[in-house]
Amino acid sequence: MHKSLFVLLLAAGLRAAAQSPTPLTARLDKVSLSFALGANGQPSYSIAYGQKPVVQPSRLGLVFQDNQGFDGALTLTGSEVKDVDETWQPVWGEVKNIRNHYQQLTVHLRQKAAPGRRLDVVFRVFADGVGFRYEFPRQQALGNFVVLDELTEFALPADHQAFWIPGDYDTNEYLYTKSRLSAVDNSAQVKSSTEIAVRVAPDAQAVATPLMLKADNGLYINIHEAAQVNYPAMQLHVDRASHRLTARLVPDAVGSKAFLHAPANTPWRTVIVSDKATDILASKLILNLNEPSKLANTDWIKPMKFVGVWWEMQIGKSDWKYANSLDTLDAKGQLIPTGRHGANTQNVKRYIDFAAQHHLGGVLVEGWNTGWEDWFGNWKENVFDFVTPYPDFNVQEISDYAKSKGVQMIMHNETSGAATNYEQHLDTAYQFMNKYGYPAVKTGYVGRIIPRGEHHDGQWMSNHFVRVAEMAAKHHVAVDMHESVRPTGLSRTYPNWMASEAGRGNEYNAFSIGSPPEHETIMPFTRFMGGPMDYTPGIFKLQNYEPTGKRQVQTTLAKQLALYVVLYSPLQMAADLPENYNEHLDAFQFIEDVPVDWDDTRIVAAEPGDYLTTARKAKGKDEWYLGSITDENARQQPVKLDFLTPGRRYQATIYADGKGADWQKNPAAYQITKQVVTSKSTLTLRLAPGGGAAVSFKPL
Ligand code: NOJ
Ligand code: CA
Repeated sequence: MHKSLFVLLLAAGLRAAAQSPTPLTARLDKVSLSFALGANGQPSYSIAYGQKPVVQPSRLGLVFQDNQGFDGALTLTGSEVKDVDETWQPVWGEVKNIRNHYQQLTVHLRQKAAPGRRLDVVFRVFADGVGFRYEFPRQQALGNFVVLDELTEFALPADHQAFWIPGDYDTNEYLYTKSRLSAVDNSAQVKSSTEIAVRVAPDAQAVATPLMLKADNGLYINIHEAAQVNYPAMQLHVDRASHRLTARLVPDAVGSKAFLHAPANTPWRTVIVSDKATDILASKLILNLNEPSKLANTDWIKPMKFVGVWWEMQIGKSDWKYANSLDTLDAKGQLIPTGRHGANTQNVKRYIDFAAQHHLGGVLVEGWNTGWEDWFGNWKENVFDFVTPYPDFNVQEISDYAKSKGVQMIMHNETSGAATNYEQHLDTAYQFMNKYGYPAVKTGYVGRIIPRGEHHDGQWMSNHFVRVAEMAAKHHVAVDMHESVRPTGLSRTYPNWMASEAGRGNEYNAFSIGSPPEHETIMPFTRFMGGPMDYTPGIFKLQNYEPTGKRQVQTTLAKQLALYVVLYSPLQMAADLPENYNEHLDAFQFIEDVPVDWDDTRIVAAEPGDYLTTARKAKGKDEWYLGSITDENARQQPVKLDFLTPGRRYQATIYADGKGADWQKNPAAYQITKQVVTSKSTLTLRLAPGGGAAVSFKPL
């Protein structure tokens, strides 16, 4: 510990009083937090940003199954304040150094009535918001307990604009709605969705987090959680009249919320606030609230780009399954191939060649293993064993070929919701990856979680995802989890948990009405607040890619390039087919060049639902990359290049929307220009409706 930090702690300790009267406060810069016990013994907190209220006095508490929870009268037995200011380095990420600077207030409470159980509430106040959590100390009166409900509230002072998706127990793969809090009603979305994920959202006024809010007084507020471990996801019930949000925990299969054993704690509830939208995206509050890496050695964790035998199945050009049915066999008793199986050795080699040619690190292959004939909708336990390839996928030959080309294979483990079955096969599955040299796995949980009907976002599955990350780490494998609970910064603790889906990715353009142009301008303020997403950008053939010819990706081609910068993931796919990239190799150069690990990030301009421009500095190199995107409106975006090293000249390569570009009518029009720039230059980017621009800056 630094000497100065020790002195600070000492001073803070002296401030602590055994019987401090409430309110108790903590503050950092403009953000202040106040805790109070009401006359009835009920605890509450409030948050302000300067003079502006962010959260008005709001209830804290928990209901237990034994009726002896923390919903009754409590007394204050003590409190402490301490200041922490430290800097740490993530294994990979958007910046090289992260400052963790906060003032912490710990409040010790005790039930007035017997059995006099003790509860701590810990608040951390940062310059850009507040995190707080409940801690259950080790104590005689509390062993195993069941949380029935969490009473945490966020009483908002006004009817803010909200960017929300339904609070669904099983999926986050929805389009965002922008509405006032008073208009939140998710029933239409939940009913009309026809997609593959399960949908359970019994409360029409419940929304998922991260919830992005914009107040009429100019404040931007983001509510989410950090370090969601051994506890269900928190959703929020919106009281439409009072704009009061109440925590609503995703239940387990029998309706309770969490099984805990003291000592224990809940995840951190987070409120990020600023008068600038760009600050919300730059916030590191959620990562800071997570525990440091549990992995001692992380050298083996390598960010990478990859292509995959994937989009061709999504658009119906080929199939995951090998045969139509498991019941019809040929004379020799073998499955009868359909001839449409994507994951065949020859096709896979085509992707390996493309990856090698364009210096992409990996190739993902889906549908390589047996089980896809009846994987979906059958709720069977043992559909997949994760190690048996189809007869036309020669795993040894493919691994050898990839190795000879300097490319790594990425494993796919679809569980079809059979999470228990997957746990039984975990060790074998990861040994298989080690044997054949797969450094990463994409997992999936399509459909209902079987056997017991746990929810994707409940406590049991949250623990499952952590178990998978831990098992993968043991085998030095990185994970990208699809249909998982939405992230809460756990990649700090498990840096091999490099990405999750847990949101509506580009794939919805393949099999549904797709996502409108504003979607990617909302995602960074919502889904990405918790961590990287495997969004699968990079679709170049934006129309006529599927049999009906009716669907279209609702962006321009240049915007697909910009997504590599504005949507961060250390595992980033180039999602389209090699033949479609070969048509536009000049534009593909940006995907080839763009890094997936960064030393620095500047959010240049942002407004949720409208536009976003981000600049990032490559890891260990003086190269910068910029992405700029807009919604359905055309826009001019000026960009001051003051992030470049002063006095240096850079070659800027600008991949912009072409003349007449328009996501609907003319999405593929792009133009590539080069220009010499310095830190004193300003670029003006012209973004088409649904368009974007991507720029690389290389020193001359
Ligand atoms: C849903 C995933 O999001 C998608 O990427 C995958 O191809 C399918 N499940 C099949 O596992
Ligand atoms: Ca999905």
